[in-house]
Amino acid sequence: MRPLRLALTKGRLEEITVELLERMGCDCSQIRQKGRRLILPVPGENLEVVLAKSADVITYVERGVCDMGVVGKDTIMEMGSSFYEVLDLGFGACRFMLAAPKGTDFYGGYRTKVIATKYPAVARRFFEKKGMDVDVVKIEGSVELAPLLGLADAIVDLVETGATLRENGLETLEEVAQVSARLIVNVASQKLRQEEIGAFLSRAEAQLKEGR
Ligand code: PRP
Repeated sequence: MRPLRLALTKGRLEEITVELLERMGCDCSQIRQKGRRLILPVPGENLEVVLAKSADVITYVERGVCDMGVVGKDTIMEMGSSFYEVLDLGFGACRFMLAAPKGTDFYGGYRTKVIATKYPAVARRFFEKKGMDVDVVKIEGSVELAPLLGLADAIVDLVETGATLRENGLETLEEVAQVSARLIVNVASQKLRQEEIGAFLSRAEAQLKEGR
């Protein structure tokens, strides 16, 4: 049987996930010296690591070409979940916030407000719940620019330290959700490779407890 495949989100979550794997006793030397390689073996374990963008981690796990994945709850909330979300890893913690230029009256007036975001589904759900009709515009990055350029009245975005908002004259209005990294598992793999996945999960849980 092929090695158990774990998809990791490249970028912010990558280093901290690799640290967790090392604490679990995994040899991550190949990952640390990856160069441009995208599939890395974990010597001594029937495990290999795949490095992918967050949305692709979900696609690969949903389609079963990866058995497990580490991905932010933000991406899960945006893309939906046809997989098991088995563990809150705790790290990568930040908040989805509604934010607007300081001093503006976002809730006032009758005009339909424009919301810029990388997460249109999350933003739409949030305003639907409030019963507020808004126009959601998808932006690919540096969403804070949209209100500064006059494209949007507010943004729905991830806030970690708050520095990006502060330095661009924006303030938070409401929290949309709290997010952190999650371990997800393909539905079929959970059945077919239950023992291996269970053992991996227990090792991860043990390290997370110790780290607390
Ligand atoms: C994220 C997020 C904010 C910023 C928040 O963007 O979208 O822009 O980080 O962090 P802070 O509260 O610590 O300032 P990222 O750096 O991932 O880049 P992007 O906006 O281009 O996606």
